[in-house]
Amino acid sequence: MRKYVIHGGRPLYGRVDISGAKNAAVGILPAALMVEGACRIENIPAISDVDLLLNIMQDLGAHVRTVNRTTMDIDCTHILNQQIPYEQGRKIRASYYLIGALLGRYGWAEVPLPGGCDLGGRPIDLHEKGLTALGAQVEVHSGYVYARAPEGKLHGAHIYLDIASVGATINIMLAATLAQGMTVIENAAKEPHIVDVANFLNSMGADITGAGTDVIKIRGVKRLRGGEYSIIPDQIEAGTYMACVAACGGEVRICNVIPKHMECITAKLQEMGVEVEEDGDTLIVRRNGPLQRTNIKTMPYPGFPTDMQPQIAAVLSTAKGTSVLTEGVWGNRYRYVEEFRRLGASIQVEGKIAVIEGVEKLIGAPMEACDLRAGAAMVIAGLAAEGTSEVSNIKHIERGYENLIGKLNGIGADICTVEVPDEETTSVRNVG
Ligand code: EPU
Repeated sequence: MRKYVIHGGRPLYGRVDISGAKNAAVGILPAALMVEGACRIENIPAISDVDLLLNIMQDLGAHVRTVNRTTMDIDCTHILNQQIPYEQGRKIRASYYLIGALLGRYGWAEVPLPGGCDLGGRPIDLHEKGLTALGAQVEVHSGYVYARAPEGKLHGAHIYLDIASVGATINIMLAATLAQGMTVIENAAKEPHIVDVANFLNSMGADITGAGTDVIKIRGVKRLRGGEYSIIPDQIEAGTYMACVAACGGEVRICNVIPKHMECITAKLQEMGVEVEEDGDTLIVRRNGPLQRTNIKTMPYPGFPTDMQPQIAAVLSTAKGTSVLTEGVWGNRYRYVEEFRRLGASIQVEGKIAVIEGVEKLIGAPMEACDLRAGAAMVIAGLAAEGTSEVSNIKHIERGYENLIGKLNGIGADICTVEVPDEETTSVRNVG
């Protein structure tokens, strides 16, 4: 086991380069399974979720060649198997995209029910409904999703999503790409990674229009061929570094971002007294004065992202006055609050609402990451706090942040990874 040790209370200065988007990469890699021929994919983030997916794909028969740190050639022309081993598939949320991709190309898929962060209930009923509308028979039992197209091929359909689900939108889009005829997804999710997966598929020969709006039209094509594609920068990674600067003070150039994707986060930080200046694909984030309170409700894109909710709570913990956070996407995304309290934060949670009374300062303490973004938020709280903090269970954080330690130390933070003997892990867990 490893943990982060953070000596907090230092302002941050310098520049940080943002990696490729996790939630785009975990859609695009399974999409490559549908392509006959080699795909060169650039700007792939070096995170454990990507490694897990690549391992699964190689076991299925994909040829993966590393070109450089962020670029890979992936050839899925000869896929030998459509069944994902249980232990591999359940470790990652995005394994559900393997259903749409394999079902679309081969007419069947057997994929373990997905894992990933525990954010309250994470049903996949909308995925099932969408795939069924495309003609698949979908059964869920014994920890697996079994999907089969009775005649070997799916057919186009008109699908209305009850909730604008990111995962269901991408999964249906994948399955419909090689289906016969036209599919229309209404009330589709509009997140930047939906557009990125559609752009990837189109650059390989798919016919998808409307991604980024709430109606996506997919005209099925016979096959996808190889090509080149570069993944967009990670909106949430960029937002996390913006939150670091907001919480600690200082001035950091956040490079390789799409400023448009950041507007929902930028607007809220500005309300809180953080200066954000745009310079091409860079955001200059500066905070010298005190942080001001604000209210935030998380919503699907272009609203404030739920994946930034814990990080912004870390920032608001030392803002002047009382802030109200409302979680508008997930049932339970406040499991980090208990850990923040160890640092002296004053947060009350009632259902989907958290009321944060800004305190003058946080004081370092040990914390345990309970999911990816909560873990990132604990790092932010530790960086802002006086004294030493620790964050254990960092495997959650490594799922989605490339080189977090290197990037933070590069802007003046004092954070390192240390090995923890197993007994210590147990004793920390048992305290309280
Ligand atoms: N929902 C259903 N039925 C479904 C699917 C979703 O009721 O079949 C509900 C969910 O319970 C939730 C809402 O719809 O209340 C939205 O869920 P969505 O399907 O959009 O989430 P997801 O696809 O499982 C992705 C990201 C999450 C991010 C959400 C919302 C990936 C791999 N994950 O999850 O990212 O929070 O969209 O933007 O893309 C993260 O990166 O830390 C993360 C958790």
